[in-house]
Amino acid sequence: MRLVVEKDAAACSRFVADAFERVIKEKPTALLGLATGGSVTDLYRMFREDYSAGRVDFSEVSTVNLDEYVGLPGDHKQSFAWFMEEHLFSKTNIPRKNVHLYDGSGDAELETAKMKAFLDENVIDILLLGIGNNGHIGFNEPDAVFTCAPHAVELAEETIAANARFFSPGEEVPKYGMTIGMRDVVRAKKVILVAFGAAKAAAIAALFGDDLVDPQLPCSTLKLAADAVVVVDEALAASANLSR
Ligand code: F6R
Repeated sequence: MRLVVEKDAAACSRFVADAFERVIKEKPTALLGLATGGSVTDLYRMFREDYSAGRVDFSEVSTVNLDEYVGLPGDHKQSFAWFMEEHLFSKTNIPRKNVHLYDGSGDAELETAKMKAFLDENVIDILLLGIGNNGHIGFNEPDAVFTCAPHAVELAEETIAANARFFSPGEEVPKYGMTIGMRDVVRAKKVILVAFGAAKAAAIAALFGDDLVDPQLPCSTLKLAADAVVVVDEALAASANLSR
């Protein structure tokens, strides 16, 4: 697991965009593992800009999203499907037939079984991860054990609280999610986790603080991945006492 410290959030996003675009150039049919959330909106803007400028061609890629809320249909503005549509899919030439999402309005057992079948057959070439303040990746929350395959989860209180910022006041924040599992993370050929902001410093400090893989710190599975990079900004690195 390698640490990369960039000046600020924009430079982190540029680093990640370049890594993805290199993979797509080398393998135009690459399977991209994609996240949603505040940490990746700048990255997706860069993808849109690079696509418009002819610097990247998504015409043969496939995508798979890490997670989704249980109970939110794809046309709900807080669903991850909607997020992807708004930030990336509707503004690039990613073929719709190659997009793999959970249907948040579907049966969670069935949806995660479908995702498992897909990931049994397909290995992610490059996987983008954000990180929760509690160290979660995808919706793999701190727990006594890791789950390997895609599965439904009860979201941690602090995840629900953190996600509330995206919902209107008074609107109910989903309590359950669906997520890829740890096998899917570890099997990915390349994993890039991006983090900025003081709230994530404790989880990142814990990640680099020892050589353990701990289900209470889900991001620690990155230590098992063949090629994992953690990209943080200088401010986070300083709060987490990390040097380049
Ligand atoms: C979302 C996902 C989550 C987020 C994490 C950080 O698809 O997989 O693990 O990456 O909760 O969210 P932000 O970037 O909004 O702080």
